[in-house]
Amino acid sequence: MDPFLLLDDFHSDNPRDYLAGFPWHPHRGIETVTYMIRGDVEHGDSIGNKGTIGSGDVQWMTAGNGILHQEMPQRYDGMFQGFQLWVNLPASKKMMDPRYREVKSAQMPVAEISKGVNVKVIAGEVSGVKGPVRDLVVDTEYIDVIMGPNAALEHDSGDRTTQLAYLYAGDAIMGTAEEAVDAPGTLVIFGEGSRIKVRSGSSGARMLLVSGKPLREPIAWGGPIVMNTEEELELAFDELRKGTFIKRGGRR
Ligand code: CO
Repeated sequence: MDPFLLLDDFHSDNPRDYLAGFPWHPHRGIETVTYMIRGDVEHGDSIGNKGTIGSGDVQWMTAGNGILHQEMPQRYDGMFQGFQLWVNLPASKKMMDPRYREVKSAQMPVAEISKGVNVKVIAGEVSGVKGPVRDLVVDTEYIDVIMGPNAALEHDSGDRTTQLAYLYAGDAIMGTAEEAVDAPGTLVIFGEGSRIKVRSGSSGARMLLVSGKPLREPIAWGGPIVMNTEEELELAFDELRKGTFIKRGGRR
């Protein structure tokens, strides 16, 4: 899925499944993008940020040369749900200073792009509507598509030829598939190209559409740290042990 590393869908209606959360842990070499649908995640990090990612909010965190953070879901009455996307950083930016952006739900524009199709634009530009997360290191388009019953969407991601669609509610026919995908939790990774077609079924559909340009660089992946070589990974874990993981000012 280059330049993407993973897409985590965390949802449950049982607080016991999620209250343990993600206590203090490191990241280096990547960006983590947290998007909450329902529920609150409290967070804090080593560069001094602290707050709550609430329903509909996005936190776009560039770990760069290193960050320590915690992400703690709060008890929610009903189905708690959020997503975390990991965007790989190119070799030239893996050791950049950490950067952090938070966008509240109310600041997120919604574009009506065709009949029955509304798009919440987090990053990128759709039908002239620009998402609030800009100047990204890795040019990424991230949109949340809200489709009414039997609606059609055609979308062109330009030169972002890696495209993912993640259906999280309803049913839809995606791409050239002949049958409807009716299971929320289905990820479709499209073949190389920029134009995609989606048609919602009788119950409508909600899906994330994410696209980006492949980095085509070697990947050395060690849990929450993703570098280009094994040596860089070893150095990172060595620095964690020695307490020199967090940089002041960064190296590049
Ligand atoms: Co994390």
